[in-house]
Order: sequence, then C-alpha cells, then structure tokens
Amino acid sequence: MKTLGYYNGRIGELDEMMIPMNDRVCYFGDGVYEAAVARNYKIFALEDHLDRFYNSASLLSIEIPCTREELASILDEMVHKMDYDEQFVYWQVTRGTAPRTHEFPAGDVKANLWITIKPSKPVHLETPLKLITIPDTRFFHCNIKTLNLLPNVMAAEQAKRAGCQECVFHRGDRVTECAHSNVSILKDGTFRTAPTDELILPGITRKHLIQICKDHNIPVSEEPFTIQELMEADEILVSSTTKFCSSVSEVDGIAVGGKAPELMKLLQDCYVQKYLSETKA
Ligand code: PDD
Repeated sequence: MKTLGYYNGRIGELDEMMIPMNDRVCYFGDGVYEAAVARNYKIFALEDHLDRFYNSASLLSIEIPCTREELASILDEMVHKMDYDEQFVYWQVTRGTAPRTHEFPAGDVKANLWITIKPSKPVHLETPLKLITIPDTRFFHCNIKTLNLLPNVMAAEQAKRAGCQECVFHRGDRVTECAHSNVSILKDGTFRTAPTDELILPGITRKHLIQICKDHNIPVSEEPFTIQELMEADEILVSSTTKFCSSVSEVDGIAVGGKAPELMKLLQDCYVQKYLSETKA
C-alpha cells in the first residue's frame, strides 16, 4: 500500500477512509496519540511509544480497546502492508462514538483505535535550523470557540461524578467560567461578570443578559471577581445557549445564593421572553 488508514480493524488507503462524525475526537479532540518512525519494517522505540500511549490514555480514563501486545502486533502487521520501508507511523485512540455531550458517553461505549501510515520524510542533520521565539500562551485561548476541549471534557465529567451539573474554573483566586457555560454573580443589585479577555469564552447568553440588565437599569460590572466573592454573592448565574440563565444553590457542597430571588427571576423571565418572542412561529 502507498498509505494506510486503520479504523477499528477497517483498513484502506488513507484518502478513502471514513470515520463517523460522532467520533468524539471531532467535537472535543477527545483522544491521545503517538507518532513514530519505522525503518526496515521495524518501529523505532516502539516500547517507549507504547508506554507513553497507555499512560496518556490512562490519565484521561480512556480504555484502549486492546492489550499492549495486541496493539504491538496490529502495528507490526500494518507496517508490513506498506510498499516502502521508511514510514511515519501514527496511531491514536479516541473516547468512542456517541452523540455530543461534554461528559463521557453513558453506557458501554468502546474507544476507537486509529492508525495511519505514510512515507517518512528524510532528516537532513547537516542543515541547521532557524527559529523564532513566541510567548507560550497555550491554554490561554479560552476566548476562541475551539474544538480542543479536553480540559473542559475532563472537568464536566468530574462535575458529573460529583453529582453536579457544572464546575467553576478559577485561575488562582479569579473566577473565569465553567466547563461549558459562563458564570456571573449578583451582588448588591449589580450584575458582575468576568471581562471578555482570553480567559473566558465571550458567551452569547452572557451578552444578552448584560443587555437585559442595561434595559432594566441594573448596574453591570465586567471586572474579575474572586472565589470568595462568588461564595458570598447574592445569586450565582450559570449562562449558556443550552442552560439559559440557571441559578445555583450549591458550590463544593456549600449552600450559596438565594439572596436576590426577585432579581434572579427578572433576568430569567426576560431571557425566556426574548427566546420565545424571537423564535415564535
Ligand atoms: N457551550 N463558556 C464555554 C467554555 C462554553 O463552552 C460555552 C457554551 C459558554 C456559553 O456560551 P453561549 O452563551 O454562547 O452558549 C461559555 C456550549 C453550549 C456547548 O459547548 O455545548
């Protein structure tokens, strides 16, 4: 073969391979991978790659659907199908195929095993490289509605296992947002919500709530607030397209909010009214 794609035992040229849209890697990047090279049909440093692969999967509670020995033998078999002997051998496991939910799929959903093989590019060690420097801003791009949602997936699952519907992310003391929603508070009649910098997704529901506040002369503050301010807020609001504007009764097992029910209800009613009027037949 010139290229190889493997998906749960199905094999073909890479260009011809299809995968189900509901593979969780499409929505969340919910998987782990390894990349290795092979020469003379032998994968270089295979044991090291397998160590890291099984370790990465286990850190994300992904159960690889075959044993290490079985995987080594599948990889060996695939490498031997190729028409040439210098190969780039890539494999990954994804958390399975299921309708999109941040939390892990319910029931008995098996992980998916992928392998791709293509010719490896020659390395030219005699030619030195040129580099540029870039500040490391990885994990500081929460304002982008990216598909790379693995930390959100892990947090949503942790919340679910704790019997909760969401979690509050914080960086140090500063509250940012939730795994798949924004979080705001009401304090002394003011709607307080984190600023739309690179640490939160600029939620559309949050934006509508701010407008509703402005329409009703409710003061709005877009300054960062702390965990302590969250815990002592009159109300906590979780907002998203699917949760609308939900109130919160408990954080980390401690009773919170419930001190400005009229204001909370006003925001909820206005939001629902906006939704109903803009979607009426
Ligand atoms: N989540 N923050 C994050 C990390 C989100 O994923 C979302 C939305 C929000 C709220 O944004 P909006 O109000 O525009 O829905 C904030 C959606 C619902 C999801 O991923 O399913």
